[in-house]
Amino acid sequence: MNIQLSSISKTFNQRLILNQIDFQAESGKLIHIVGGNGSGKSTIFKIICQIIEPDSGTVFLSDDVNLGALIENPSFIEDRSIKANLSFLGKIKKQFNEERVINLVSRLGLDYDNKLKLSKYSLGMRQKVGIIQAIMENQNVILLDEPTRGLDKEALAEFNKIIGELIEESKTIIIASHDNLADLQFDEYYSLEEGRLQSS
Ligand SMILES: Nc1ncnc2c1ncn2[C@@H]1O[C@H](COP(=O)(O)OP(=O)(O)OP(=O)(O)O)[C@@H](O)[C@H]1O
Ligand SMILES: [Mg+2]
Repeated sequence: MNIQLSSISKTFNQRLILNQIDFQAESGKLIHIVGGNGSGKSTIFKIICQIIEPDSGTVFLSDDVNLGALIENPSFIEDRSIKANLSFLGKIKKQFNEERVINLVSRLGLDYDNKLKLSKYSLGMRQKVGIIQAIMENQNVILLDEPTRGLDKEALAEFNKIIGELIEESKTIIIASHDNLADLQFDEYYSLEEGRLQSS
């Protein structure tokens, strides 16, 4: 498994957001990208997911990469329940393990059988659903953009535990945030500032 960004640049409205960044992720690593608001963290994730194209540079994902991602505010089918949403997403790649999903849902303090529409979910509840969909299909590379935003203390502790378990399973996890996440033991740190991504 390998992800490699080489010399990626991206300009939005004549502003150079990413300036020839190089980045590589190897199996089983927990990687942290730290950068302030507007530094380009979400843009890097969108480039890895090929949602947006860089102006220059190359993105390489090896064939065995199965990406899971939570980027910014995830969209859901707003007038349907959590069960309807997660099983719909699970049908796309047909790797839906309902038992695993139910377990994740309950660990994060949600109720799989709650009929409440997603449009009525609180910010933290939506964030949890976003985390679940990024990891529920045994994805081996997981991109989490500000994943702890809106999580309460209990959910945060459970999230940290889940990340630890995924690392034990040799999943590669890349977390972007503006602050440091002291409770997680990262293998690699990068800082993103003025378009430059630097390993630190
Ligand atoms: N599609 C777009 N069109 C124009 N500008 C964009 C677009 N996407 C991002 N930008 C700009 O690129 C910069 C980086 O945005 P990005 O969302 O990657 O930052 P971020 O590090 O994720 O910030 P935050 O911590 O606030 O989430 C910002 O100045 C943003 O306005
Ligand atoms: Mg962002």
